[in-house]
Amino acid sequence: MKKPVIAIDGYSSTGKSSISKVIAEKLGLVHLDTGALYRGITWFALQNCTDKNGSIDLEQLFLSLHNIQLEFKNLDEELILHLNHEDISKEIRSNEVSDNVSVVAKQKEVRDFLLQYQRSLAEKGGIIMDGRDIGTVVLPNADFKFFLTASIDERTKRRYHELLSLGIEAEEQQVKENLIERDKIDSEREIAPLKQAEDAIVIDNTFLTKEETIESILSYLKNF
Ligand code: DC
Repeated sequence: MKKPVIAIDGYSSTGKSSISKVIAEKLGLVHLDTGALYRGITWFALQNCTDKNGSIDLEQLFLSLHNIQLEFKNLDEELILHLNHEDISKEIRSNEVSDNVSVVAKQKEVRDFLLQYQRSLAEKGGIIMDGRDIGTVVLPNADFKFFLTASIDERTKRRYHELLSLGIEAEEQQVKENLIERDKIDSEREIAPLKQAEDAIVIDNTFLTKEETIESILSYLKNF
């Protein structure tokens, strides 16, 4: 039986990745968090491509892209992102990466670099990929497309607790400002902006638990 290709897009901290992970487990699909790829490139840039003020030097990053090898390795059924053979799964969640990732993700050179890689991972089917442009650009022919949204206050609360659970210090107001700023840059960028695909099913989960959101998505998938 053919396994589906599912695209899940939406705003930051709507639970896209954790929800996709559970659905992948239930349906025996591979889950790919594409935000991790943009975060990985940002982490690399912060280590290797900064100017004397410590800001990312984009030109230097573009010239270095070919030195980056990204790979998801399977560890206990979880795909862990490695960059040049180093596990960077914790580093990419830092505030420093969150503060810089949208600017890196809006660059054409970076998006082109990641596009083919993402498509190649979906070639065999049986995948649920979450991001911002999966239903619109990366996998426009996906079997199912979902677009998740929730209020900014609810998303701030979720992100704040996620950071605390990762042992990363955070201040709620700063988390909220970072989300607003990222949404703005992601939605207004020229290339592959964050937007709902015309054929996507929209789910506002402000008042839904994670489990209820999962149930809602599964109800659309049950007849595949
Ligand atoms: O989902 P996330 O917060 O980890 O994503 C990090 C950043 O990467 C976010 O600012 C948007 C960007 N991104 C993107 O532009 N396209 C994707 N497919 C996934 C993420």
